Amino acid sequence: MSAVKAQLLSRIQDRSATVGIVGLGYVGLPLAMEFAKAGFHVIGYDVSDRVCKLLMRGESHIQDVPAADVGAMLKAGRFEATTDESALGRCDAISIAVPTPLSKTRDPDMRFVQSATEAIARNAHPGMLAVLESTTYPGTTREVMQPKLEERGLTVGQDVFLAFSPERVDPGNPKYHTKNTPKVVGGITAACTEVAVALYSSCIDTVVPVSTTEAAELVKLLENTFRSVNIGLVNEMAIVCEKLGVNVWEVIEAAATKPFGFMKFTPGPGIGGHCIPLDPHYLAWKMRTLNYKTRFIDLASEINSEMPAFVVEKVAIALNDDRKAVNGSRVIVVGVAYKKDIDDIRESPALDVIRLLEERGADVVHHDPFIPRFNDGDHEGGGDHRERIGVDLSAAELGKADAVVIVTDHSQIDYQQIVDDAVLVIDTRNATARASRGRARVVSLAANRKLAAGAVSGGASARKPTAVG
Ligand SMILES: NC(=O)c1ccc[n+]([C@@H]2O[C@H](COP(=O)([O-])OP(=O)(O)OC[C@H]3O[C@@H](n4cnc5c(N)ncnc54)[C@H](O)[C@@H]3O)[C@@H](O)[C@H]2O)c1
Repeated sequence: MSAVKAQLLSRIQDRSATVGIVGLGYVGLPLAMEFAKAGFHVIGYDVSDRVCKLLMRGESHIQDVPAADVGAMLKAGRFEATTDESALGRCDAISIAVPTPLSKTRDPDMRFVQSATEAIARNAHPGMLAVLESTTYPGTTREVMQPKLEERGLTVGQDVFLAFSPERVDPGNPKYHTKNTPKVVGGITAACTEVAVALYSSCIDTVVPVSTTEAAELVKLLENTFRSVNIGLVNEMAIVCEKLGVNVWEVIEAAATKPFGFMKFTPGPGIGGHCIPLDPHYLAWKMRTLNYKTRFIDLASEINSEMPAFVVEKVAIALNDDRKAVNGSRVIVVGVAYKKDIDDIRESPALDVIRLLEERGADVVHHDPFIPRFNDGDHEGGGDHRERIGVDLSAAELGKADAVVIVTDHSQIDYQQIVDDAVLVIDTRNATARASRGRARVVSLAANRKLAAGAVSGGASARKPTAVG
């Protein structure tokens, strides 16, 4: 074993290694806390002055990370956050969790990975491990990162170590978090895999080595493509059910009683977040460069991205049944986060639903206990930077709305109250399934509208659907 590798393994083993986290967002901050709790000194490096200052005050901007954890790690001297990239030079192992968005033409936008890699390369030293966690196309670690480190005269696998380990964090998931979600790791060389496995084994319960960085990169894309395709399938099933006059929720619940060979996914108003709508396009792009068209990815994306328009059409038809036009109707969109019980609006289908309703002249307001206000310009494709302040779900607000559209089924919302006080409810998540009949006419995402008229959501069996996307 080389002396450089042996020394790094020993520093990981006895926790004297300093761990760097580049990018302190939804992925990076929870990971930083895990390493700090495992006994390492952790340096968080982020280009955002706001984020670093907030963390250094012992606050947290990430819902899944309690401020008390940040405060405790600061007090114990095991965590610091900085915008000074030279601090990376003090690190023995660095995990990178910077954004990997798409460009306007839906190609990978690698600017953040590139600039993070350059910062690491400028501060690299023999015996350093760098692990990319950002979701990306197969080949990124070897083609984008390795050359930048080797330009500094450091040979990967001998002087420095380089690996990819996909992040699987599921914000808001009460059962699975960073520590108890198995972590896949693939290195450029076997030595790279070995040190990266050692690093993550120090704070993650199960680490799964794979043979290459490309395999590790593809694992993440398979997982999220699997979700996108299955959500696309079940969304298409909702459209099928609508046309057949069959209740989609009833069909899904009954199919889910099969104990093998079926996995339950639920339809909804579309997909959102930083992962499912974007990640499969990284693979589609890579395959286009190899003259291969990934048909499942394209088809699922097409169906999923048409769901907000499907929902808005349902709203228009339901208002029409009440002899009302969308134009001039007051609509409350309930839930603007991209999935239940979280505060993230990135790529949320609610934003498309709001935009499409407003394009038709509706007067749209929102209610979301996690997002009391948001700025239209804060999100991808955001428009006029108009600040939207949410309304309460009071009897008066519900009563004066022409329609209430349930887009995200947050647990703490009182759906019985909505059914009792609203006139018309378009329920895209089956959130009202447990409510008893009230004043509102409830229209389900997918059941023949004539069958659904006057009934609460077709009465699908009682279990609640899980969030999609
Ligand atoms: N959010 C999720 O649920 C999730 C789940 C799995 C994987 N991922 C992937 O993890 C990666 C990070 O996602 P996220 O949701 O944590 O993003 P985020 O936007 O919450 O956080 C990214 C952070 O990186 C910082 N940053 C940007 N460029 C930087 C640079 N050059 N140097 C240092 N810091 C920089 C930003 O200021 C920001 O604080 C993405 O590739 C994403 O696809 C996200």
